[in-house]
Amino acid sequence: MNARPDASSLPIRLADYRAPAWRVERVELDFELGIATTEIGAKLLLRRDPAQDESLRLDGENLELISIALDGEVLADDAYRLVDGGLEVHGARDGSVLETRVRVHPAANTALEGLYLSGPSETGFLLTQCEAQGFRHITFFPDRPDVQAIYTVTLRADRARFPVLLAGGNPDGSGELEDGRHWARFVDPHPKPAYLFALVAGRLEKIEQDYRTADGRDVQLKIWAEADAIDRCHYAMDALVRSMRWDEQAYGRNYDLDVFHVVATHDFNMGAMENKGLNIFNTKCLLADADSSTDDEYRRVEAVVAHEYFHNWSGNRVTCRDWFQLSLKEGFTVYREQCFSADMNSAPLKRIEDVGLLRRAQFPEDAGPLAHPVRPAEYREINNFYTATVYEKGAELVRMLAGKLGTAGFRRGTDLYFSRNDGRAAALEDFLAALGEANDVDLSPYLAWYGQSGTPRLKAHGHYDATRHEYTLTLSQHTPASLQQPRKQPLPIPVKLALFGSDGRMLPLHTDGQTDASEIVVVLDEAEQCFVFRDVPERPVPSLLRGLSAPAVLECDYTPAELALLLGHDPDGFNRWDAGQQLALRAYDALRDGAHNGAVNAWCDTLAALFDDARLDAALLADLLVPPGEIELAERESVVDPARIYTLRQQLQQRLAARIGADKLEARYRSLAAQSTAGIDAVSQANRSLKQRVLQLLALLDPTAACHHAATQYLDAPSMTDRLAALGVLARHDAARSVEPLVHYRKRYASDPLALDKWFALQAQLPGEGALARVQALEADPAFTLKNPNRARALLGTWANGNPSGFHRADGAGYRLYADRLLALDALNPQIAARLATAFNGWQRLEPHRREAAHAALASLAGHDQLSRNLAEIVGNMLK
Ligand code: PHE
Ligand code: ZN
Repeated sequence: MNARPDASSLPIRLADYRAPAWRVERVELDFELGIATTEIGAKLLLRRDPAQDESLRLDGENLELISIALDGEVLADDAYRLVDGGLEVHGARDGSVLETRVRVHPAANTALEGLYLSGPSETGFLLTQCEAQGFRHITFFPDRPDVQAIYTVTLRADRARFPVLLAGGNPDGSGELEDGRHWARFVDPHPKPAYLFALVAGRLEKIEQDYRTADGRDVQLKIWAEADAIDRCHYAMDALVRSMRWDEQAYGRNYDLDVFHVVATHDFNMGAMENKGLNIFNTKCLLADADSSTDDEYRRVEAVVAHEYFHNWSGNRVTCRDWFQLSLKEGFTVYREQCFSADMNSAPLKRIEDVGLLRRAQFPEDAGPLAHPVRPAEYREINNFYTATVYEKGAELVRMLAGKLGTAGFRRGTDLYFSRNDGRAAALEDFLAALGEANDVDLSPYLAWYGQSGTPRLKAHGHYDATRHEYTLTLSQHTPASLQQPRKQPLPIPVKLALFGSDGRMLPLHTDGQTDASEIVVVLDEAEQCFVFRDVPERPVPSLLRGLSAPAVLECDYTPAELALLLGHDPDGFNRWDAGQQLALRAYDALRDGAHNGAVNAWCDTLAALFDDARLDAALLADLLVPPGEIELAERESVVDPARIYTLRQQLQQRLAARIGADKLEARYRSLAAQSTAGIDAVSQANRSLKQRVLQLLALLDPTAACHHAATQYLDAPSMTDRLAALGVLARHDAARSVEPLVHYRKRYASDPLALDKWFALQAQLPGEGALARVQALEADPAFTLKNPNRARALLGTWANGNPSGFHRADGAGYRLYADRLLALDALNPQIAARLATAFNGWQRLEPHRREAAHAALASLAGHDQLSRNLAEIVGNMLK
């Protein structure tokens, strides 16, 4: 049973923000826990803003009110009123104490928001998810982040059924009750918003470790999971300890409670949640071991553990004034997490991964009907705004600011930001002000980035004056108009650049400001500007937007030879990769247009040469050998035919494979396979990454040979990465031969949900029109269920988002099936339904047949009157 708030309710606007008329200073919560029914007592110490004259209104949804009293007196029926979405109370004063008692039904809560059950009724455990507005499903409360209270939480439950009782804060007593029940109390001394409240109760195992903070606090770290998963939590513990040290060193931030709990659940809408002192993780982002996790998953666990931990300061100690400021905590925390991962692994590889995600997920979002600024101006359903724009573009904006201030300056700025805003609910302006003031610079022009949607296009044109040895670079910017913002302003765009000579060396730069650097940042803050470089000995090749110094698309009139020069010689791995991506786009265009082969040859020749370069890092080489993906390619087309894009991209890769040659690919595969280990050190990971890429390329030339290797690799694989890579090659190139290993895998991992998710996802990704039938067959697998978000995403999400040629069938049957499943999902879990629905993004640019069919599917969805507010908003925006 889900609440169906009126789907047509009015949008919430940033411009309408007002400070709360009522705050809660302290809250005491009392849980009488049960699977079917839980009763919650709440005692609120209220504070009234003397400047406002409004009666008390509390948020509350799906709550059965049992009793209500104000200042010790049971309230008469006319002293309060249950209204849509909440409760109004008359007669409350500053300092009043409101007591309520409510009933909720955790086992019936399929939306996984508020208090819910993870797993079967008999064995599962109870947990909460309150961000963004789940707390109102637990008790009546001003459920907004600028109301920060001190929490005392008492949990009572049957000891045998719920041996472990946890809530955020420090433990404050526990004991026995009659009838085999027990209790435990927790006090959190740090005032916090309701969205950071959490509890967990049930049968859980733990691993623990002691930690002493840099400022001398002894902390117990405890990771909790169900019995079958607890042995896979050690890597997360290791990552947690490294995160805590890193935050002390990089930001001077210490942990601030005596215990830090982390809990793993299979049933979670998102990746993880930073509840104060009690982080809760999707198992997908917490569990890792050699037998069942890929290298990517190890890195994700490390990153997400760090991300949630870092929120303790960027999000919890300094929280958000309102949900429009979401990127204040998310963009900043993603940036912190990216830097941590770069420090723990390889900085260029990390940047390649992050920019890849930005281009694949955020740029398309920012160019389509769901585009919104990093700080949106309005929303109907806040859960729809946990987007790539708020997270990833938000992180890029922080990166831009950090780049502008330099490492020491940025640290001065964040120190001031944390100290000045500690315990407060802040806005993005507070962040920019602190960073700016600590460095005596005015960062307010950068605020425009937060308010404007769309990806700026950066055009560059170079002119070399051979007699004066002067190079003039003309940069211009343009952001395409969007529905909400028909006129876009120029933004301050930091363009990091270098100039290369024809021998592939970087030239020293002489401008008015700086001399002799080989890399500088110029800021383009008008529609068009010229930058002049003196004493340039020859016509240079510019390398622009290095490191992706701003979240923009570069349009530069390079020749293929110039890009090949950068791909071959840039000393910085990321920039080399990026030059290769641009060259691959040229090559793709040439193939598509049947044009001259210059770009194709330049791309293939340069990569073939790098393939033989023993000095090149294997993991970087693996990345260099991958052209931009189908989604990125589609972004550049005005009329999109996903099947054609798939075919052309395959052809492009085939050309590359042929240029390197089957013999070399085969030899490299054998030598990499001979050196394979199960380790997760950088060298072993790099080996696996390149080995997989080489095998994929070989499969395009000689599928028989490649499948032969793959079959052996599947059987011998010492790691999940190798096992899945082998399965993927087999399933793509020899369907018949893949049947047996797929069945084998299915059996071997029958009781490992995360490994099964990978089995579903791998098959959902197989390209072409056959994907639909495959998805339908997989839906019939007894392990498939829409009730578990990971499972639904693994099959349906992977198909719709990660397999364009398989999802976008010419006959539209993919869209119809998908819309049908979205409806079914919406009845269970609106957040997941809405998120999956974003796979229709870009439908307006599909070729006419597909476009028509996608439109029909969306329109039929929109026609349903029982849609959740979540799904209704996404579908509505999609059709605008
Ligand atoms: N705040 C979480 C994070 O990014 C994400 C999240 C949002 C989780 C909403 C659950 C619900 O770390
Ligand atoms: Zn976050």
